[in-house]
Amino acid sequence: MRILGVESSCDDTAAAVLDDGTVLSSIVASQDDVHNKFGGVVPELASRSHLRNIVAVIEAALAKAGTTLDRIDAIAATRGPGLVGSLLVGLCTAKAIAFARQLPFVGVNHLEGHLLSPRLEGDVPFPYVALLVSGGHTSVYHAEDYGRYRLLGATRDDAAGEAFDKVAKVMGLGYPGGRVIDNLARNGDPTAIRFPRARLKPLRNANGTPFGYSFSGLKTAVWQHVREHPIDSDAMVADVAASFQEAVVDMLLDTAFAAARSVGSLRLVIAGGVSANSRLRARALAGAAELGITACIPPMRYCTDNAAMIALAASHRLQRGECDPLSVNAVADLEL
Ligand code: KG4
Ligand code: ZN
Repeated sequence: MRILGVESSCDDTAAAVLDDGTVLSSIVASQDDVHNKFGGVVPELASRSHLRNIVAVIEAALAKAGTTLDRIDAIAATRGPGLVGSLLVGLCTAKAIAFARQLPFVGVNHLEGHLLSPRLEGDVPFPYVALLVSGGHTSVYHAEDYGRYRLLGATRDDAAGEAFDKVAKVMGLGYPGGRVIDNLARNGDPTAIRFPRARLKPLRNANGTPFGYSFSGLKTAVWQHVREHPIDSDAMVADVAASFQEAVVDMLLDTAFAAARSVGSLRLVIAGGVSANSRLRARALAGAAELGITACIPPMRYCTDNAAMIALAASHRLQRGECDPLSVNAVADLEL
């Protein structure tokens, strides 16, 4: 089965063609240049950029896959969560193609796409514990099977990616901040500044889940540090970046490993934009080896937003004979 996937939930316009689980093409048009000067995503500009790019991105994905719409069997698009104006562009375009071509349509939860993304490169058997860490989410799930994802914990304030982006903004490093901080931190000392690590007690978590995260205290601590110790050298920038990043990685992994232990999982999947972080990747692999479990992290191109993961999530529903009516709407706060 050949599926055209479309993703436009935030600030990346993406399309991909998946053929029986093999990625034939995955095109992502980034809007970093549009939002960089604002230090964050401007929703209205994001929707307009999606509108400008969506058709060209879909055409590029079909061309790269060496295929045409005549040979596509089904269409999938992200229906949430995300910025509603952004979501609508990809969703409406995909539904229009499905209507014109009389093809089955599947509306996909973006978070399920991330949770399944390591499977684009090989089999990752269920069950597994998955840390989903992006610009909008920081949550731990027990993925028991397709469509069966039990929330074990989530952030009660900022997402980790948001913390990276806000700290980069405070330091005047531009948007998106994660990649910039990752690069600068390579030259810094992660022990230079001891930023606080929040460890939440189960009762203080949202939804009564056993685990949780909080990044707002760390963000404020970096802001205070930068205010009290004005950054006046490249070495200082690198040390603040490395120390902040180390605190985030400590918090993410301590809780993710504890969650894996709590359900007896021998596999920890880490997915979402922040899983592109080099320090997180290295420490996750080393930590998992020490604990005798396997850490599965997608290759960089499938960590950040892409449409291959959306087509993959749809493929499992299509295999079961399921699809959605074209009345499916975008839902900004869609839950998993
Ligand atoms: O999954 P994603 O592409 O979009 C959302 O669904 O949010 O994640 C984007 C987030 C941004 O906050 C970005 O700063 C962060 O992922 N990110 C990183 C790195 N690359 C992207 N954070 C830390 N280190 C990186 N190398
Ligand atoms: Zn995402």
